[in-house]
Amino acid sequence: MNRNIYNKDVAELYVQSFGKQSTLAGEAVLRVIQSMGLEDALVVDLGCGPGTIARQISDAGHRVIGCDISPHMIALANEHAPEADLKCTSYMEFSIPPCDIVIAIGEVFSFDSGNEDHFQLLEYTFQRIYKALKPGGVLIFDVSTIDSMPEDPIEFYIEDHEDWCGTIQADFDFENKRTHRTITTFRKVNGGYRKSSEEHHMVIYEAWQINQALQNAGFMVTTSRSIDQYQLVNGYTSFWAKKKSEYE
Ligand SMILES: C[S@@+](CC[C@H](N)C(=O)[O-])C[C@H]1O[C@@H](n2cnc3c(N)ncnc32)[C@H](O)[C@@H]1O
Repeated sequence: MNRNIYNKDVAELYVQSFGKQSTLAGEAVLRVIQSMGLEDALVVDLGCGPGTIARQISDAGHRVIGCDISPHMIALANEHAPEADLKCTSYMEFSIPPCDIVIAIGEVFSFDSGNEDHFQLLEYTFQRIYKALKPGGVLIFDVSTIDSMPEDPIEFYIEDHEDWCGTIQADFDFENKRTHRTITTFRKVNGGYRKSSEEHHMVIYEAWQINQALQNAGFMVTTSRSIDQYQLVNGYTSFWAKKKSEYE
């Protein structure tokens, strides 16, 4: 399990680069909570990142429990969402309490755990989530999928900001269904630029494979390219996995 992802600079700069997307996803989750008629929901946020979504949910009067594998992300999340109960651990080891909704937004399940039996561990996670969810509860997440990849996926991004810049290089290995990403940042500090670099090893799934694993766990599954009205970028599929209510 690689616990060295989202170092201090990458974690802090993630908020600037992707904070808007997290906020849109958080708004979508709030609409889902509302549509379920929940006034005091318990939401489990797996891979909570800097706590943007956790903050939105707790500000709306709901409870959030969650985890993230990166200590720097958890430090930010504890600052941004002090009401939430967030732990620094992998979702694979996190004990999931009885809850209304589980979210893992922002390709959390796509990070390769490095275990040979990664997919079986993910299947086991789906089973644990199913057990923890109350009847009618939902699991919402997005992952990178072969089916949603454009023919020519973008391999190189540049981020250019006033006090930092960075590059993201993605190497796609479609044969082995993996993406290797290198993130390099240069941040203005004390009149110079601090360089930091890290690698992300990602799994590219087949949507049917995830679908099957969710159904095997007992869920009713819907897939989409968006989460409610929040449109995902190319290459990602969202999964809405529902545990039947007593009336279904
Ligand atoms: C792209 S960020 C998304 C953060 C947040 N959910 C959001 O939407 O703003 C992905 C997050 O997943 C976390 N992550 C990756 N593998 C994880 C694991 N095995 N357990 C818990 N968190 C993990 C990363 O540390 C990172 O914070």
